[in-house]
Amino acid sequence: MDFLLARKSVRKYTNEDVKQEDLEYILRAAMSAPTARNTRCYYFIVVKDKQMHKKIASIHQSAQMVLSAPLAILVVGDQSLAYGGYLPQDCAASTQNILLAATAKGYGSVWCGIYSNEERSNAISELFNLPNNIKPFSLVVLGKSKDDNLPKDRWQPEKIKYETWQ
Ligand SMILES: Cc1cc2nc3c(=O)[nH]c(=O)nc-3n(C[C@H](O)[C@H](O)[C@H](O)COP(=O)(O)O)c2cc1C
Repeated sequence: MDFLLARKSVRKYTNEDVKQEDLEYILRAAMSAPTARNTRCYYFIVVKDKQMHKKIASIHQSAQMVLSAPLAILVVGDQSLAYGGYLPQDCAASTQNILLAATAKGYGSVWCGIYSNEERSNAISELFNLPNNIKPFSLVVLGKSKDDNLPKDRWQPEKIKYETWQ
């Protein structure tokens, strides 16, 4: 199946590691995302350390799957580089590219939201020792999938309008 249509959130993983070459491909894809005025304000923190995974899980109730994953990527943006208010959009485009590249390379992944939950953002910033200008955006949890649910068909023609709303 086309990997664009095959992407789904995966929250169960095998013990298999993410190969370094695949990780680099995924990060290259992340950096290929568009950014407003080409500021490329994104940074990516690769987290393999199990103690860090435990600390993340204690902060982020909806990211418990990190405990069984080989790796997570924290997507952050530099507020001092971003153009206007576009940091979240820039980081979102990178996050989506990570999910798609992971799918293309045969990995399962899930986007765990951080922005715009202030409490979560503050706790993650503290855990990762982020400087003031570096804003956490999302955490992507990644690994070989242990979930064989088929991706859902999300095609809804009624969501499409032409020219104007009515
Ligand atoms: C902004 C955003 C935040 C999300 N946060 C979480 C999260 O914290 N934990 C989680 O398990 N899934 C999270 N998801 C994944 C959604 O739950 C998932 O994409 C949605 O249920 C649709 O399922 P699918 O990805 O399999 O198509 C998030 C997705 C987005 C776009």
